[in-house]
Amino acid sequence: MLNLQQIHKIFNEGTPDEKIALNHINLSLEKGDFVTIIGSNGAGKSTMMNMISGALTPDVGTIQIANKDVTKLPEYKRSQYIGRVFQDPMAGTAPTMTIEENLAIAYSRNKKRGVRRGVSKERKQLFQAALESLHLNLENRLHAKVGLLSGGERQALSLLMATFTNPNILLLDEHTAALDPSRAALITSLTKELVEKDELTTLMITHDMQQAIDLGNRLIMMDKGQIILEVGKEEKKNLTIEDLMNEFQRIRGEKMVSDRALLSAT
Ligand SMILES: Nc1ncnc2c1ncn2[C@@H]1O[C@H](COP(=O)(O)OP(=O)(O)O)[C@@H](O)[C@H]1O
Ligand SMILES: [Mg+2]
Repeated sequence: MLNLQQIHKIFNEGTPDEKIALNHINLSLEKGDFVTIIGSNGAGKSTMMNMISGALTPDVGTIQIANKDVTKLPEYKRSQYIGRVFQDPMAGTAPTMTIEENLAIAYSRNKKRGVRRGVSKERKQLFQAALESLHLNLENRLHAKVGLLSGGERQALSLLMATFTNPNILLLDEHTAALDPSRAALITSLTKELVEKDELTTLMITHDMQQAIDLGNRLIMMDKGQIILEVGKEEKKNLTIEDLMNEFQRIRGEKMVSDRALLSAT
């Protein structure tokens, strides 16, 4: 479903700020794979997602989605294949539009139907049923402006919009990190539910090592622009945070320093 080959990206090449953000990355996902991604700040995690979404173009390498080479395809043309949720709950939805209008946009985007604001009775029922799955009572607030929702509600709506039309790839970039613990837990369980329901092929970046272990069927660790560890389906079942810390130390010859990762391990 997704294939990254030799993806290389240097920012500010030839200047004192030169930074190799991705160093010849290879990654392959089968349909239905749910891969969690951990790694220190600046490891290249978000840059990798930007490559997949088309927000950035690699200097070297190719990207295939569903066996199609999309390396040169601009972001807006790739959006039909991709659902994405960011850390910022404000980023995925339009605040001045209603819940219903936001859903209508998500609905038309991936189905290539063009943006139509109108909502038929049939679609309204579809939207209501989808909103019910969030268990936030949003199905009774279809005409509420999204700007009035709480951060957690908005992130739940973003998640619903990103998964609504069965994207080939779902990209989640620390999408629970900005929420308080109870809201984060809610979004985590919704994520699990929505991904499992449609067997979505998913990449999820998280700072929470326990979350990375608990969710998904594969795990990768990134550091300095490289994938330094891949944990497969069988191995992942018995994985502990201690294993991950030890593996990092074995590979890098130094202790893993991540205050946030350590904190969330408690
Ligand atoms: N648009 C950009 N311009 C210059 N440098 C960037 C840009 N985006 C990311 N970087 C740099 O590339 C490296 C990887 O960043 P990023 O992918 O955001 O890391 P992560 O998401 O793992 O924390 C960092 O050193 C970051 O400063
Ligand atoms: Mg990031």
